This record gives sequence, structure tokens and C-alpha cells, in this order.
Amino acid sequence: MTASTQWQLAREAAERYEEILVPAILGPAARALVEFARAREGEAVLDVGCGTGAAARDAARAAGQTGRVTGVDVNSGMIEVAGSLPPVEGAAIEWLCRSAYELPFGEESFDLVLCAQTLQFLQERQLALEEMRRVLKTGGRVAASLWCDIRDNPYFHALAEAVTRHIGAETALGLQAAFRLSREETIRALFIGNGYGELRMVVQQLDLELPPLLDFVPRHISATPMAAGFAAASPEERQAVVQEVSEKFALCASEGGVRIPFRTHLIQAVK
Ligand SMILES: C[S@@+](CC[C@H](N)C(=O)[O-])C[C@H]1O[C@@H](n2cnc3c(N)ncnc32)[C@H](O)[C@@H]1O
Repeated sequence: MTASTQWQLAREAAERYEEILVPAILGPAARALVEFARAREGEAVLDVGCGTGAAARDAARAAGQTGRVTGVDVNSGMIEVAGSLPPVEGAAIEWLCRSAYELPFGEESFDLVLCAQTLQFLQERQLALEEMRRVLKTGGRVAASLWCDIRDNPYFHALAEAVTRHIGAETALGLQAAFRLSREETIRALFIGNGYGELRMVVQQLDLELPPLLDFVPRHISATPMAAGFAAASPEERQAVVQEVSEKFALCASEGGVRIPFRTHLIQAVK
């Protein structure tokens, strides 16, 4: 597996991720996960694969000053950006650059473990889920989000198709990797097989307002593992990608942007 399919971004790309992707897509998706998990006042929460910390910050607001939140990510650029953002009102957040496969905490340390749009990028999913279960208190919850099939996510689908057509399949892999764990039965089996119980799973549709696509698409790509392949393409190829995606959504576009449905699985299971 290449670095790009495990979503490994340099510091500069992590800054673009926070500036472009979090407000438009990942932030609302993280909020939906934290609401689904019903994070509560006073809870100890761990966010695994926290990126720049969207879910951790929402959890900190919910956990309040009596709670505590820790964000863990293997990518130092993500953790640096997370730590550089202003603190939110609520629980203090600790940011740690560590792998999901070796969580630096004792058993039974957390009430809630969040894993927002990350499990699909992990090669050792069983090991990561085992680690999350180990650090959860008995009766504690793990809550994860995983995008539904790319064909149920029209914007991502259009973008992957356009990048494949005009630039190449290798570059599009940087986006398609986000949909590697999208089948409901596979997800269920993963959690149940790992010894979790009381599985609760829903498909949530987020109707998101993206900025005008002629501007947003190249900015979005620059904040993903597709950035290098896109930058290496010719101006005509890049333009063809942007044009094709914007034209697909022309009918639902207004002056301010375009409203597009995104669909994600939300999963909760109990230790
Ligand atoms: C698509 S991003 C999601 C980030 C964040 N949870 C969000 O919702 O914005 C996937 C994250 O998984 C992290 N990641 C990948 N492999 C990891 C591992 N083995 N341990 C911890 N984090 C990992 C990446 O560095 C990246 O920040």
C-alpha cells in the first residue's frame, strides 16, 4: 500500500486539509459522529486518527470542563496543525503523534473512543479495534464513521471518475481509498468479530453546501493525497477535471455554491 492510500499528508497539506476540507466536508461529518455517539459532560474521550482534530474539538465541547479529550494521529503534520488551533470552550485536549496500533494508554482509560473516517485507511483494522477496546472502560463505546459506497456519494464519485479519465487511475486511488470499507456487512463483521457488542449502525445523509466547484475542486484536491498527481498533470488535464465535475452539478448550483448529499455510515459498539 502506498503512502497516498493511507492518507499521509505533509504539514502544508495538513494546513490545507484544515482550511478547505474541514469546513466543507470533514467538519460536518465529525459533528454528526459526535452527536450520534452522544458524547456527554465529564466523559474521557479518545479520538483515534484525529487528523486536525474536528471530532476531538466537538467532543471537547460536549464533555465540558469536567471531561478530558485526547487526539491521536500517526501524522505529525496533522498533530502540529491540531495543536496550533485555538482551544475550544470545554474539555482540555491533549494531542499525541502515535499510531492506532499502539495506543499509549492503560486499560479502561476512556468512556468513548471516536474514529472519524480513518478505519478505512488502516491496514491492520483488527489490531486498531483491539487497541481501542483495550483502552475503553467496560461498558464504554467506540463510535466510527465510514463513507458509504462511492456511488452513493455523487461528488466524490464524479471527482474520482474525472481524475481517472483525465489524469490517471493511480492518482484517483488517493480518493478511492476513502471508500475501501463501505459495505455494511463487512463493517458489522469487523466490530462483532472483534468482541464488541450492542452494535448500532445508521446511514446518515449530510446535505452539504460546497463553495462554487470551479474554485473548490482544485482546492479540495490540493488538500488530499491526489495533490501530487494533480500538480504533475498538464493545465489542460487539470482544467478538464475541474470542468467535468462542475458541469455535473451545474443544475443544482447557485451563485453561492452547490448543495450535494454525502452519505456516511455511523457505527457505535460497546465493550
Ligand atoms: C481522512 S483523515 C480523517 C481525519 C479526522 N478524523 C477527520 O475526520 O477529519 C484520516 C486520518 O487517519 C490518520 N491515520 C492513518 N493511519 C493511521 C494510524 N496507523 N494511526 C493513527 N492515525 C492514522 C491519517 O494520518 C489521517 O489524519
